[in-house]
Amino acid sequence: MSSISTNPQADAATPILELRGVNKRFGAVQALSDITLSVGRGEVVALVGDNGAGKSTLVKIIAGVYQHDGGQILLDGEPAHFGGPGDAQQAGVATVFQDLALCDNLDVVANLFLGKEMKRGRMLDEAAMEHQSWNLLKQLSAKIPSVHIPIASLSGGQRQTVAIARSLLGEPKLILLDEPTAALGVAQTAEVLNLIERIRDRGLGVIVISHNMADVQAVADRILVLRLGKNNGIFDATTPTETLVAAITGASDNVVTARNKRIADTATIRTTTSEGRRA
Ligand SMILES: Nc1ncnc2c1ncn2[C@@H]1O[C@H](COP(=O)(O)OP(=O)(O)OP(=O)(O)O)[C@@H](O)[C@H]1O
Ligand SMILES: [Mg+2]
Repeated sequence: MSSISTNPQADAATPILELRGVNKRFGAVQALSDITLSVGRGEVVALVGDNGAGKSTLVKIIAGVYQHDGGQILLDGEPAHFGGPGDAQQAGVATVFQDLALCDNLDVVANLFLGKEMKRGRMLDEAAMEHQSWNLLKQLSAKIPSVHIPIASLSGGQRQTVAIARSLLGEPKLILLDEPTAALGVAQTAEVLNLIERIRDRGLGVIVISHNMADVQAVADRILVLRLGKNNGIFDATTPTETLVAAITGASDNVVTARNKRIADTATIRTTTSEGRRA
């Protein structure tokens, strides 16, 4: 899969996306203040934060749904100005919103090609669309039993897979996923996380919003914590959960840190006693 490049001079080291001091205000609410972030090729960045922290607003700005009030957005090192979601898509930014926007009564192929149907002459080229659908789902190792199954009869994980596959048809360079595992069970979550890995392996940049720290730690290369619209730290995937939770909540004395401290203390006591016995 090739990717559209706005800047032919952009080399592998140039981030796909760079935000510099991005601000967004809704009336009296300062939803985002001075957000700086970069996403490289084949990199997964997770966006975490409490309700109202500004995650969706940030994703919508990158997706061209909202316009930022201040700061800069660069794609492949070139300043980008999105007047609407169409501009962002054109520039290679694909977004899978939480509601997925799939048509339940249509089958997988029809959903994948909704609004961008392949035609031969004036007729729909059903065979070509089916072929391309199988190819894409196979490349993603997606577990979809048939491309002629209506979306209504797919599981939550399979629907998420179809929505992500659809966004890949536009050959994006950056994909934004808003809570892709929020409504999924354990096995389906694992499938979607595997899918994210495969997208990363294709060299795309991924920004994923999640409330689930285990998912984030499993799949992200870096984690941006938003708190009250501000950057409250960028962490790597090995960061302990309690550090992330403390950054998210702004408190280091919450139940998660208290529990981890108890576990650590118990481990220390055990080590001390067993060493004592050995001595
Ligand atoms: N269209 C809007 N008009 C006015 N205020 C808005 C709008 N969208 C978001 N906000 C406000 O901006 C802040 C950030 O909201 P946002 O939806 O980005 O949070 P979030 O981190 O995605 O939260 P959640 O985890 O609940 O989805 C909130 O205070 C919210 O009320
Ligand atoms: Mg949100």
